[in-house]
Amino acid sequence: MQLSNLAQNLGGSAIRAMYNEALKMKDTISFTVGEPDFITPKPIIDEACRCWEQGMTHYTPNSGVLTLRQAIAEYHKNDLNPDPETQIMVSCGATEAIQMALFTLVDPGDEVILVTPAWPNYFGQIGMTGAILKVVPAYEENNFVPNPDDIRRAIGPKTKAIILNSPSNPTGAVIDKATCKALADILRDRDIFVIADEIYSRLIYDDEGYTSITSFDGMIEKTVYISGFSKMFAMTGWRLGYAIARPDIIRNMTKLHENGASCLPAPSQIAAAVGLKQCLPEIDQMRKSYHTRRDLICSLINATPGLSIRPPKGAFYAFTNAKELSKATGLNSMDLCMDLLKKTGVVTVPGSGFGDVGEGYIRITYATSEENIKAGLARVQEYVKGYGL
Ligand SMILES: Cc1ncc(COP(=O)(O)O)c(C=O)c1O
Repeated sequence: MQLSNLAQNLGGSAIRAMYNEALKMKDTISFTVGEPDFITPKPIIDEACRCWEQGMTHYTPNSGVLTLRQAIAEYHKNDLNPDPETQIMVSCGATEAIQMALFTLVDPGDEVILVTPAWPNYFGQIGMTGAILKVVPAYEENNFVPNPDDIRRAIGPKTKAIILNSPSNPTGAVIDKATCKALADILRDRDIFVIADEIYSRLIYDDEGYTSITSFDGMIEKTVYISGFSKMFAMTGWRLGYAIARPDIIRNMTKLHENGASCLPAPSQIAAAVGLKQCLPEIDQMRKSYHTRRDLICSLINATPGLSIRPPKGAFYAFTNAKELSKATGLNSMDLCMDLLKKTGVVTVPGSGFGDVGEGYIRITYATSEENIKAGLARVQEYVKGYGL
């Protein structure tokens, strides 16, 4: 008997492939999975423990406990200002919110525009809806920010949605205000929904700050805003994300979520609300550490023959240009990452795993300690010497 075509044809992520390969080895230094090395702030953990001990072991409302939705609404009162009762859905990580948004907005055969290099899950998530992926590459020359004209050209009669991820995984690109405005001008009067994945929006390192596409006239109404607790509060394992959108979209997303994940545990949700109310200073400390690590890793990469990088403006990924190293080794980015792993124990992710335009790059996550960054890059520097660089 055949398994479904969907299951058989769905590709796996290059991030997990490298991660699994590394598990077979000893003495590795990992720069793969995009997760903070920090432990969740203590007030959040304490609150969750208190809830578990008080017996909060039951199902919760499908769209999330009201306490958390109210805390999210309060957190967003100066930008999206959502109604906690009708405009917020809590999800199993931002991952599930994106999937539910896609299922709500697009039908099989519709086109979804995706700016690449992009987080690998988007490819699978679009595939699961039966929609057609329309790729718009963004280039290093433009700091991996998409060119609005390229997006305008990609729009066709079947285009139903666009995914915009800023700051970006894997490039750390932050879509600047002028580009956001140009994109809003293109999208405002067209029948195209926006999925704005802004899960890294607090991780910004440069002075120009952060602009959300939702801040432009007429955009909130057509956008599903996605965020979550994984990156912001170092809560990847808690699996908590959320979507904000107009009530009819949230109502339909919640129906789908009810049939998929149903709901999230009460203690995680109530604890996350405490995080939003009490832990913002602590997460700003984390941001400062990432900033220091970004500067460190970029200077070490740029001091490594065969590699180069323009400092990313957000998130915690160094999308490193390895084209010279690829040339010297004769290896494409997948084989280069494997070779690097086998010879040095350093685990990175091939740029090709984020779309074709990522070929020639490797992604190095810097959500890891300064010691790891120094030790890992020292191994890479030895490695490139072996190829005469
Ligand atoms: C761009 C982007 N969106 C969403 C997610 C998913 O996050 P969560 O852990 O909340 O599911 C990730 C995780 O790596 C990500 O990089």
